[in-house]
Amino acid sequence: MQAVRMSMGVAVLSMAFAANAADVEVLHWWTSGGEAKAAGELKKMLETKGDKWKDFAVAGGAGENAMTALKARVVSGNPPAAAQIKGPAIQEWGAEGVLASIDDVAKKDGWDKVLPPAVSNVMKYKGQYVAAPVNVHRVNWLWVNPLLLKKANVKAPTTWDEFFKAADALKKAGIQPVAYGGQPWQDATVFETVALGVGGADFYKKAFVQLDQATLKGPTMVKVLETYKRIKPYTDKASAGREWNLVTSMVINGTAAMQFMGDWAKGEFLAAGKVPGKDFLCVPAPGTANAYTFNIDSFVMFKLPNKDAVKGQKDLAETLMSPQFQELFNLNKGSIPARMGMDMSKFDDCGKKSAEDFKADAAKGTLLPSFAHGMAMYSATQGAMYDVISQFWNDDAASAQKTAEKLATAAKVR
Ligand code: GAL
Repeated sequence: MQAVRMSMGVAVLSMAFAANAADVEVLHWWTSGGEAKAAGELKKMLETKGDKWKDFAVAGGAGENAMTALKARVVSGNPPAAAQIKGPAIQEWGAEGVLASIDDVAKKDGWDKVLPPAVSNVMKYKGQYVAAPVNVHRVNWLWVNPLLLKKANVKAPTTWDEFFKAADALKKAGIQPVAYGGQPWQDATVFETVALGVGGADFYKKAFVQLDQATLKGPTMVKVLETYKRIKPYTDKASAGREWNLVTSMVINGTAAMQFMGDWAKGEFLAAGKVPGKDFLCVPAPGTANAYTFNIDSFVMFKLPNKDAVKGQKDLAETLMSPQFQELFNLNKGSIPARMGMDMSKFDDCGKKSAEDFKADAAKGTLLPSFAHGMAMYSATQGAMYDVISQFWNDDAASAQKTAEKLATAAKVR
């Protein structure tokens, strides 16, 4: 009896607490080692404001599974408080009429002054902030295991010629040159990096930002496709369907020498206790040192009926954009802060280089949105591109010329 009364008392108490503290349900796909650590920092920081983090994590790199789960929840009239949504998709969700304005928080904390307009514009729907950016990831990196390169007596490649020469030397030395994950978003990630390296920044812009038909099916695109396919013999047969973090593990463990991937991969190296410059190298992918493909993570807020929940959303928005959070989160995530003017002294050389190049490339006009990561085109167009690229990778007999024409057709999908 005593025990029952006690537990009832606890129940009443915790209900009272729950009424004041807002439950903030957050959808994300950060479930790998480095990602989970970074998300853990957000949870901790939000909870210092008296709110309760309700985890809505849906595993799967680049968030395809998470978006499917989110659509089901929104359609049934039960959206989470916040969700990781990026790029032009923010406008698509805005047009559905389901997003909540966080403009009051943005005004109070002066977001317009600390975000570059290229970033803040993406976060606004009809002039009001509906999303908060947390980082900038650079996508066009090559992650390298220096010990394996040394064994094969090669240097980290800077051109495609050097890359294929190094890959041959590694193969000869009995080392798997490239760790690869055959999933549509990873195929597209590697493909866009090859496109930038082979075609250059102007070509990339014309093809994937302007969706120019002639560029998409032209001779440079054919060369890009051929170069992309040349990588395949240097990967292993078991790469189909492999998650990106398992791909990174192969470079960490010395099973393979290199991975093309955005700098969320650095989060995995760091979570495994590896030291940049010593245990692993970050180098711009071949031919891409003079450009920067960016991928910005952000969270949108959904319209919710409950007042406590709205308070929780404002707390979350405030936290996401605070300098303290942007530093701590990005030290774990592998990215750099989205806020300008942050002190980068705690960041490693990869982070510092990313921050310097971001500025330099913005000034030169070679800062480019990653289409593989939802920065350049609407989701239906992007999905159609993914399909064409993966089909090409998986079919050894596929023609590069015909595939280029298919890319041009995919660009028309809305
Ligand atoms: C990207 C996302 C990153 C990273 C990666 C792998 O699209 O922006 O934060 O986690 O997917 O899941």
